[in-house]
Amino acid sequence: MGVNVTPHYSSEHARLYCGDALGVLCEMETGSVDAVIADPPYSSGGMVRGDRTASVHTKYVQSDSITGTALPAFVGDTRDQRGYAYWSTLWLTQAMRITQPGGVVAVFTDWRQLPTVTDAVQAAGLVWRGVVAWCKPNGRRVQGRFANNNEYLVWGTHGPRPLNALPYTLNGHYVINTPRSRVHITQKPIELLRDLVRIAPPGGTVLDPFAGSGSTGVAALAEGRRFVGIEIDPYFAAITADQLAAAEHEQPAA
Ligand SMILES: C[S@@+](CC[C@H](N)C(=O)[O-])C[C@H]1O[C@@H](n2cnc3c(N)ncnc32)[C@H](O)[C@@H]1O
Repeated sequence: MGVNVTPHYSSEHARLYCGDALGVLCEMETGSVDAVIADPPYSSGGMVRGDRTASVHTKYVQSDSITGTALPAFVGDTRDQRGYAYWSTLWLTQAMRITQPGGVVAVFTDWRQLPTVTDAVQAAGLVWRGVVAWCKPNGRRVQGRFANNNEYLVWGTHGPRPLNALPYTLNGHYVINTPRSRVHITQKPIELLRDLVRIAPPGGTVLDPFAGSGSTGVAALAEGRRFVGIEIDPYFAAITADQLAAAEHEQPAA
């Protein structure tokens, strides 16, 4: 993989680095992954700067829905708008370099940051290809307003993508609830990610530079893909490592 950083976890099909995404990405070998599925901090959650820089506990649902257990905060969610745009462009530029020509780089975001992320994808040099909608029927509703119960996956490609890149099609929208049992405040459903990682070919490598609790990695291994993850917080890196070990044990990749 050509990374000059010691992995936090390494197995036959998965590798995890505990560190800052931008720093680790800069060390990674050009063209070494088939797809990037990234779930960065959104730096969202408010109408004004003061709202956005509030703690993630103030901005997002903060407890597990089944046990009511308070979930730990995560870092990197308080960038102001211009900072978020420039930072996103920086790491996306590296993500594109690391992705094989024709490969896909896809980024989760919410309605507030959608324009910034579509700009950053293009500024990084990717060919912007579209926006996949993830509808969360169990999302919060507020009386007298449209529900903001969608998140989005902005996706682009490293240059032209051959029409025969994969022998199947993928969805443009998903209707899937957020997980009721969680260890991370913004944990994504495995069911959703299992379909998304199929944008990499069977046996191919998926990179998630913001691994959180490791959902993308678990999904990648379950679908017979390899996984490379990066997570800055040692607490979540340890959770991801455990999840990867369990997933690899249960369903070895092809
Ligand atoms: C939105 S969460 C990812 C959640 C994950 N998809 C899941 O299902 O659990 C973003 C993660 O990125 C991590 N993070 C924040 N800044 C980072 C950085 N600069 N480099 C690497 N990881 C970072 C946070 O600690 C957090 O766990």
